[in-house]
Amino acid sequence: MALITKAIKGTQDILPAQVHHNQFIEKTMLTIAGKFGFKEIRTPVFEHTELFTRSVGSTTDVVQKEMYTFNDKGGRSITLRPEGTAGAVRAFLEHGLFNEAYPQKVCYLTSCYRYEKPQAGRLREFQQFGAECFGTSAPAADGEMIALADEIFAFLGVKNLKLELNSIGCPQCRAHYHAALKTYFDAKKAELCVTCLDRLDRNPMRILDCKSPVCGAIAKDAPAMLDYICADCAEHFKAVKQYLDAMHIPYAINPRIVRGLDYYTRTVFEFVSDEIGAQGTVCGGGRYDGLVEEVGGPSVPSLGFALGLERLVLLMKAQGIELPAPAACELYIASVGEKGSLQAAALTHALRVSGVSAQFDVVGRSVKAQMKYADKIAAVYSMVLGDDDLEKGEVNLKKMDTGEIQPIKLKNFVDDFINIMVRQAADSLIDSLDL
Ligand code: HAM
Repeated sequence: MALITKAIKGTQDILPAQVHHNQFIEKTMLTIAGKFGFKEIRTPVFEHTELFTRSVGSTTDVVQKEMYTFNDKGGRSITLRPEGTAGAVRAFLEHGLFNEAYPQKVCYLTSCYRYEKPQAGRLREFQQFGAECFGTSAPAADGEMIALADEIFAFLGVKNLKLELNSIGCPQCRAHYHAALKTYFDAKKAELCVTCLDRLDRNPMRILDCKSPVCGAIAKDAPAMLDYICADCAEHFKAVKQYLDAMHIPYAINPRIVRGLDYYTRTVFEFVSDEIGAQGTVCGGGRYDGLVEEVGGPSVPSLGFALGLERLVLLMKAQGIELPAPAACELYIASVGEKGSLQAAALTHALRVSGVSAQFDVVGRSVKAQMKYADKIAAVYSMVLGDDDLEKGEVNLKKMDTGEIQPIKLKNFVDDFINIMVRQAADSLIDSLDL
C-alpha cells in the first residue's frame, strides 16, 4: 500500500499554496519574455529517442545515463524529454518556421525528466522555463538572451546570482582543443571512470562535465577552451561582453563552463547561486549554431537558455522573497435551512458571474461551523441568510477583520456589494497614502 501512497522518488507534488507562487513566477516569466518578443510554444512531453541522442549528444550523461526511454506498443523507441531545446528545434523545423522572418523567438514552460540521483534541487521530474531564439549569429542576440534571464531574476527580486560566461568555440577551433584535452587525459587514463574512458576517444570535452569526484578532480587542471578559440570566436566573445557591459549586466568569465549538452557552440553561460546547496546552477544556456542542421534542417544559428523552476523556488525561499497572497474570498454567504441555502447558491453564483470571489456552504454545516470556515479561508466579508432575512429582504454584512456590521438589501445585492468593496478599496488606498 505504501507504494501507491508515496510519490515516485525524485518527483514531487506541488500543493495549492506553492502552485499559487509558481503561477505568479510563471506568469512573470512569460510576460517578461513577451516584452522581449518571445512567444510561447508547447511541444509533446515525449519524442523519438533519436531526437535527443542526435541533439543532446550520445556521449553526454543525459543520453548515456539519465533518459527515460521505453518502447511504445508500436515498437518505437520513445523518450520523455530531458530538456526543452530539442523539441523546440524539431517543431521549428517540422512547421517550417525557418521560412518566417528571423529571428524567431519562442519560450516554454515544460516538465523535464532525467534519471539523476535525487537531492535538494535535483529531481527526476522538474520544470523548466526556456527561451530559444532562432536565426541569428550576431552577438547582440547573446546579450539579449542573457538580459532576458537577468530581467526575470531582477523582477522577482532574486539577488546574489552570479552570471558566469565562457566561449567554447566553433567546431574548427574545438578540434584543436579536443587534441589538447586528449593528450592531457591520456596521461591520467588509469584514474578515469569507465564512461570517461569511452569519452576520451569520442568526445574528451565531456570528461570535464563528469559527475564522478575523481574525474572532476582530474578535470580541474585540464586545458581551458578559451586558450584555443579561433580569432572569429574570440571576436564574437568580445562583442558579447560589450553588449553585456552596455546593458550593465555584471558577469564573470569562467573558463570551466562546458555545459552538459553537446549542441553548444561559442557563448555558454550559467546563473549560479551559493545559497541552495550543491545544485546551484539555476539557469544555463548558450549558443547552438549547428543544432538545427544536425537535426536535419538548414543552417540556422540559434541560442537559448533554460531555468529550473524548483531551483528558483528554493532560492527565493532561501532569500525570504514574499510573493502576493492568493486572492481572498471576498464574501462568504452562510445560510440556515433549505431556502437559505438555495438563495445563498443563487447569490454566490451571481457574484461570481460578476467577477467577485464568493463562497457558500456546500457541506451542510451548522451556521457556527460555517462562520468558523469563513474565518479559516480569511473571507473579507460574511453574512448569514436565514428565514427572517429572506422575508425582510435585507441581511447584515459583516467585515470580518473589524466585526463592523452594515445592512444590505437583497434586491440589487450584487451591485451594492461591489460598491461596498470598491469604497473599501478606495478608503484603504487613501489610508495607505497617509495624506
Ligand atoms: P541544463 O543546464 O541541462 O540546460 O538545464 C537547465 C536548468 O534546468 C538547470 O540550470 C537547472 O536549473 C534545471 N535542471 C536541470 N536538471 C535538473 C534536475 N535534475 N532537477 C532540477 N532542475 C534541473 C538545458 O536543459 C538546455 N536545454 C538549456 C538551453 C536552452 N540551452 C539552450 N537553450
